Amino acid sequence: MGKGYYISKHLATAAMILAAIALVTIIALSVVYNREKSKNTAKLTNATTSAVPPTPKPSNEPWDKYRLPDTLSPQYYNITLWPRLVMDANGMYIFTGISDVMFTCVKKTDLILIHSNKLNLTLFNGRHAKLTGMSGVTAPAIKSTWLQTQTQYLVIQLKGKLNPGKSYWLHTEFTGELADDLEGFYRSEYMEDGEKKIIAITQMQATYARKAFPCFDEPAMKAVFNIILIHDRGMTALSNSQEIRTEDVIIDEMPVTRTTFEPTARMSTYLVAFVVSDFSYINNEDKAGVLVRIWARKKAIDDGQGDYALSITQPILEFFESYYNTSYPLSKSDQVALPDFNSGAMENWGLVTYRETALLYDPQTSANGNKQRIATVVSHELAHMWFGNLVTLKWWNDLWLNEGFASYVEYLGADHAEPTWNIKDQIILYDMQRAFAVDSLTSSHPLSRKEEEVNTPAEISEMFSTISYSKGAAVLKMLSEFLTEPVFAKGLSNYLKQFAFGSSVHSDLWDHLQKSLDQAPGMKLPRSVHEIMSRWILQMGFPVITIDTRTGNVSQKHFLVEKDAVVERNSEFNYEWFVPIKWMKKGQVQDQMWLLQKSAIHKPMKVSKGEWVLANHNVSGYFRVNYDHGNWERLLSQLETNHQTIPVVNRAQILDDAFNLARASIINITLALRTTKYLVREREYIPWEAALRSLNYFFQLFDRNEVYGALQAYLKKQVKPLFEHFGTISSNWTKVPNGHTDQFTQIIALSLACGTGVEGCREITKSWFKKWMQNPRVNPIHPNLRSTVYCNAIAAGGADEWNFGWQMFQKATVAAEAVKLRAALACTKVPWLLNRYLEYSINPEKIRKQDATSTIGYIASNVIGQPLAWNFVRANWDYFFKVYGTGSFTFSRLISDITSKFCTPFELSQLKRFQKDNAETGFGSGTQALQQAIERTTAKIKWLAENKEPVLQWFISESA
Ligand SMILES: *[C@@H]1O[C@H](CO)[C@@H](O)[C@H](O)[C@H]1NC(C)=O
Ligand SMILES: *[C@@H]1O[C@H](CO)[C@@H](O)[C@H](O)[C@H]1NC(C)=O
Ligand SMILES: *[C@@H]1O[C@H](CO)[C@@H](O)[C@H](O)[C@H]1NC(C)=O
Ligand SMILES: *[C@@H]1O[C@H](CO)[C@@H](O)[C@H](O)[C@H]1NC(C)=O
Ligand SMILES: [Zn+2]
Repeated sequence: MGKGYYISKHLATAAMILAAIALVTIIALSVVYNREKSKNTAKLTNATTSAVPPTPKPSNEPWDKYRLPDTLSPQYYNITLWPRLVMDANGMYIFTGISDVMFTCVKKTDLILIHSNKLNLTLFNGRHAKLTGMSGVTAPAIKSTWLQTQTQYLVIQLKGKLNPGKSYWLHTEFTGELADDLEGFYRSEYMEDGEKKIIAITQMQATYARKAFPCFDEPAMKAVFNIILIHDRGMTALSNSQEIRTEDVIIDEMPVTRTTFEPTARMSTYLVAFVVSDFSYINNEDKAGVLVRIWARKKAIDDGQGDYALSITQPILEFFESYYNTSYPLSKSDQVALPDFNSGAMENWGLVTYRETALLYDPQTSANGNKQRIATVVSHELAHMWFGNLVTLKWWNDLWLNEGFASYVEYLGADHAEPTWNIKDQIILYDMQRAFAVDSLTSSHPLSRKEEEVNTPAEISEMFSTISYSKGAAVLKMLSEFLTEPVFAKGLSNYLKQFAFGSSVHSDLWDHLQKSLDQAPGMKLPRSVHEIMSRWILQMGFPVITIDTRTGNVSQKHFLVEKDAVVERNSEFNYEWFVPIKWMKKGQVQDQMWLLQKSAIHKPMKVSKGEWVLANHNVSGYFRVNYDHGNWERLLSQLETNHQTIPVVNRAQILDDAFNLARASIINITLALRTTKYLVREREYIPWEAALRSLNYFFQLFDRNEVYGALQAYLKKQVKPLFEHFGTISSNWTKVPNGHTDQFTQIIALSLACGTGVEGCREITKSWFKKWMQNPRVNPIHPNLRSTVYCNAIAAGGADEWNFGWQMFQKATVAAEAVKLRAALACTKVPWLLNRYLEYSINPEKIRKQDATSTIGYIASNVIGQPLAWNFVRANWDYFFKVYGTGSFTFSRLISDITSKFCTPFELSQLKRFQKDNAETGFGSGTQALQQAIERTTAKIKWLAENKEPVLQWFISESA
């Protein structure tokens, strides 16, 4: 799945962090799509099983185990599905289906287990299925069948045995609900030209294919799918493979169209997809004749919103063909933008589905950041067409390799499509630093889990975490860098060739990389790929490397952001790593060193007067770095005198490392603050963004106490030159800077300058917004700057500005524009407007259900909105719990959003009280988030007690 699963990175960038006088913090405009709970309980044919869901008592029956036995192997499915896009007499939307699966018996057995969830299966002579033998084989008679709801199986007991090597057909007919639950085969509704439209779409990953048709729903159970879709005339049906026939037919006296698709390649069930819609498309063909199409709402296509995605798809496919040294495995590539979609995107083979904001680009209203997000998400999903789809990890415990890999190479593919963007560097911000943040907590977990630890759908769903995506990307980048890119790519392509159309485990990749390394002339590693990588993937966390330049001593220690944290999880490697350290001495790149023990003397790192050492050159390694005091001072003075000697990404690293080392009380906070002094001369995006994120921590802590004034005065001083620089290069804010990342930096300049009250800034944003209010049909604000300008103007204004923003939000036809407005509406400082907005957030007529929790999150990041949001959620706890309690991600995000500013003993006691008061209702999927909030608040109280005074003094002396 696309990374937007939990956070839509790249969108609007964290530049929204600072806006308005209140310095409202809105991180990355993360659009959190909730998983609406299915409104239906399981509907079963077998009344005996539905009445009493089997209690999960320990049992050795095969149908009580979540993993399929290894007795049967599916070969192909013939599936016909018919979604009804009008409500039936019972007020329900349904689909009907017929499925024949041909499987081969591998081990003698008298039991067939096949996944089936929430489907009403038709009975044949009292049985839920029919079984037939292939090529003259007689199938044994069925003894009994039933549905095992806990493990989501259709269980078929036979009177005789199936024979190894023989093949059989299993026939089922069924009805399912086409609910709006974003899972399996579901429906989505949207408005077009005042008319309600309904489409039928799918999301099978990870365990929802079984909700669309009975299937052996495990990734390694690959098969060929022959799919037929029946649908209303005038609608178009799409699936993984190319449509070969569409016929108008009459079925059950209804005039319908039947679309038949060519057999798919051998593939996993979680990658199956269908779309029935009246969307239109644009297309082109690549050199090898692969048909490339972009599908979306008619209006979006007519407006040219699919053009950008179409233009980059071919270059990206070509890039991956050459990178993997394997041609695109299918005959077509469809990409569809869906109005209602849970994750950011889903890599269904040949039919990738996207949230609209991840595929549609409207030059009139979309920002540069939106464009970048499209390039990276498209690249991510297309990377999966090979890695993940052609070769699939055997089981979900290795999900990190699939997602981490796509999250790493998405930068390479996007870089190929947009070579001037320098996008590869951004992995530091959007993956590495994001992974550091969660991986430095004691609650983190290793990348890879044991296969037997991941069984239930809930355990599988937990695998889709920041650790899997972002830490996975960071360690694979490190691996690729110490192996070198050619060795890495060669091993990779051999791995893909060996396991094509099959499945593998992570050590298979290590083996191929090792082989590729052994064949590379002159290349050697101090340990095998397997030994090195085991330490990064089998134990959680990462090291902080400490370099003492007085002695040349280099040592490592597990980095934890809370000073007194106790690690309960044991590691067979004792929390030590094999660390590849690329480094520089006074501007010169040195030979890489490997730290293979807890500590070692590395003579070249002992330096003489005036020289400095900088480790983790180009931030190729997944670790933080600390130095002796003298070296820190020399680095600071280098930043002051000529910061360009230090690579851009390392400037960001110094800031991020220093602040986090200070949070962990490893270095003095004043040292970390001093790393921001050189920013008066910094013009690059990545260091500024890193600085903002670090400082954001301070805003959270200080925006309600006396440090705040001095902090703001200091920042005003720091950003003024940047603001003036952009005023100049943009001809007084009338032109857009040429450079891609300069456009991001411009947003930072504007939002930070307006936020801290740099003279002239607020006047500009106010006047633009006023102009728009006077003529709502023409928006004079450049798309890049809209988030900032909207937020500032609404914060500075009153009910008129708010109501205007609300009107524009309701009228917005481009998803990205709607998100900007929805976030900006949370910037107002007027309490009654904020309270009313909170009420709107849980009214689905006003705010889509999928957007409710993120809207509350935006409000909670506003210093005035925070207590209102906290009270609102507490007061409506039962409601929130009922709607979101089991949807894993959104709910925990809501809890962490509304408590993220907590840092006083009073707030801590409120939190504990809240935990007690609602113990009975419970916290569902937010249980861990609540516990983390308590831990975080406790740690902040302690940190503040020690550091508040020096921080205040420092800001006062620096802002004078
Ligand atoms: C499945 O579909 C294939 C291709 O259309 C056809 O040859 C085969 O007979 C079908 N099998 C069954 C049992 O429907
Ligand atoms: C329902 O399931 C039970 C086993 O739980 C089985 O004994 C019974 O025959 C099933 N009934 C039908 C109608 O399939
Ligand atoms: C499935 O069967 C149950 C019980 O008969 C019924 O209430 C439900 O509406 C059916 N669902 C569908 C999708 O037909
Ligand atoms: C940090 O440094 C400041 C000034 O250099 C000093 O006043 C303060 O005591 C130091 N704090 C700690 C925890 O060492
Ligand atoms: Zn993915």
